[in-house]
Amino acid sequence: MPLVNAKEMLTKAKAGHYAVGQFNINNLEWTKSILLTAQELNSPVILGVSEGAGKYMCGYKTVVGMVNGMLEELNITVPVALHLDHGSYEGAKKCIEAGFSSIMFDGSHYPIEENIEKTKELVATCNKLGLSLEAEVGAIGGEEDGVIGMGECADPKECKMVADLGVTMLAAGIGNIHGKYPANWKGLSFETLDAIQQLTGEMPLVLHGGTGIPADMIKKAISLGVSKINVNTECQLAFAAATRKYIEEGKDLEGKGFDPRKLLAPGAEAIKATVKEKMELFGSVNKA
Ligand code: 13P
Repeated sequence: MPLVNAKEMLTKAKAGHYAVGQFNINNLEWTKSILLTAQELNSPVILGVSEGAGKYMCGYKTVVGMVNGMLEELNITVPVALHLDHGSYEGAKKCIEAGFSSIMFDGSHYPIEENIEKTKELVATCNKLGLSLEAEVGAIGGEEDGVIGMGECADPKECKMVADLGVTMLAAGIGNIHGKYPANWKGLSFETLDAIQQLTGEMPLVLHGGTGIPADMIKKAISLGVSKINVNTECQLAFAAATRKYIEEGKDLEGKGFDPRKLLAPGAEAIKATVKEKMELFGSVNKA
């Protein structure tokens, strides 16, 4: 099945009280592992591409070509959206042109008026082309140059203003952080999430920083309107640990163990296991 936008899968998720996972891709192995797992579990899936990962994979057109090729050659029949993650205004335009089916414009670092103005313009473009659009209000914390910023909680009224622009999904900061959570993390702010959901109604809400959030918090967030959860670091950690084990056991030195198809296989399997675990937790299995 060709790429789809994320609207239908997220509307169904919100109504059915489960969440669709966005798994960020970094290369061919990542993409293949995520797509095969989604197909095996009969789950919808969103492939996330950050601007950095897009550049690493030789640009957005290469990514679109690779993903479209895999959908066909791997006979993927579950709904798959290809989504720009934390896009700049320029990045969003480039991905629209390259053939992405879904866009995130992260204007959370702009004053709210400017965030609204730019988001509104992209809503019009995405609507015209049948693409879904994610907007962001309130900063999501994380590590930057060794300094860990705590997630800033979004103002529910600002969330309503942005939701009313007609975006498909809304990422709102509720104390969530990208990367590993620090030991002194205070947890998600469910009061903020509840207030946002009260004001934004049917709008599918997005939880970034899915790595390391305990299962009970994930379930509670879903019960309060979260219908998309982003996971990136956890697949990276799983891939790195499995690859390290293979090399530390000297497997690359046995026979043709150095062949990249063998060397990268344990990491690829570890990504599959992580994606499976998350899809089961999020409740998207058999929801394709
Ligand atoms: P993690 O890397 O913490 O899983 O966050 C992923 C994310 O939110 C991508 O936008």
